[in-house]
Amino acid sequence: MSYHKQLTIGLFGFGVVGEGLYKVLQQTPSLSATIKKVCIKDPGKKRNAPDALFTTERDDLLNDEEINVIVEVINESEAAFEIVSTALRNGKAVVSASKKMIAEHLPEILALQQETGQSLLYEAAACASIPVIRNLEEYYDNDLLHGIKAIVNGSTNFILTKMFEDKLDFQQALLLAQQLGFAESDPKLDVEGYDAVNKWAFLLTHAYGIIEHPDNLLFTGIQNINAMDAKVAAEKNQQIKLVAQAQKLTNGKVASFVIPQFVPQDDHLAFVKNEYNGVVIESGFSDKQFFYGKGAGSFPTASAVLSDLSALRYDYKYEY
Ligand code: HSE
Repeated sequence: MSYHKQLTIGLFGFGVVGEGLYKVLQQTPSLSATIKKVCIKDPGKKRNAPDALFTTERDDLLNDEEINVIVEVINESEAAFEIVSTALRNGKAVVSASKKMIAEHLPEILALQQETGQSLLYEAAACASIPVIRNLEEYYDNDLLHGIKAIVNGSTNFILTKMFEDKLDFQQALLLAQQLGFAESDPKLDVEGYDAVNKWAFLLTHAYGIIEHPDNLLFTGIQNINAMDAKVAAEKNQQIKLVAQAQKLTNGKVASFVIPQFVPQDDHLAFVKNEYNGVVIESGFSDKQFFYGKGAGSFPTASAVLSDLSALRYDYKYEY
């Protein structure tokens, strides 16, 4: 296949991310990627795109031989897995942003990629605009990776920032995150740490080769953080952040958890405010590196999908 492969896309989902991708692709003609069809659930809804683009029939995309890439941004785990598996089996490459689906189905996803030889990329599924997966895949040697700590959920970071800096109460801050389109449709997924641990599960895979169902990882969210905690943190000149952390132990095993932590003001993660995410990687010889960027939202997430599409033009695959 040539490097400048033409990508003909079938897009599942036209919400915050799907519409963002549609707009971004209109502004990036040099990518040679066009959306041929978009599969949606509700045909009655008004959308800023030609009606002829839309269908409610998944097979209009999955059985179209001209479509060589399926982009799936529906974020409903089981339906997404069904789409992704069929697409791979039908000889199409896939780009997905469905973190829950990837976290819960990773062993099957690995097997499907092996069986079909097709690629499934999902940079948008963790930390949106930060290219964390491909960096973990390509740049770092697992053996030299001493530890990672990260803020991987934009909504909880947004809520904590608004509570501690703007003195909003929890519910006001959550409402704002929902209005801005960062929060999951069930905000419990953000607030109680489910979204963070889902992302963390497959980041651990790309960092250390660990394949663990998120239910088996230690995590808690920010549901029990209150104004008193904020006061205590402020008195110590610290902030409270929902931090995902993994540390290589001397016996070679990896300890990992997602938990709210006091973060001193001179810590890299203290710099991460609102819907931003941040990743601090500590590895042999390079010491610490800090990646920072928007972890949620329409264009930041679409930018990661765009980067995956670009990688597919040279048939990039994760090695795991
Ligand atoms: N609800 C998610 C978050 C969206 O707040 O991080 C991006 O994955």
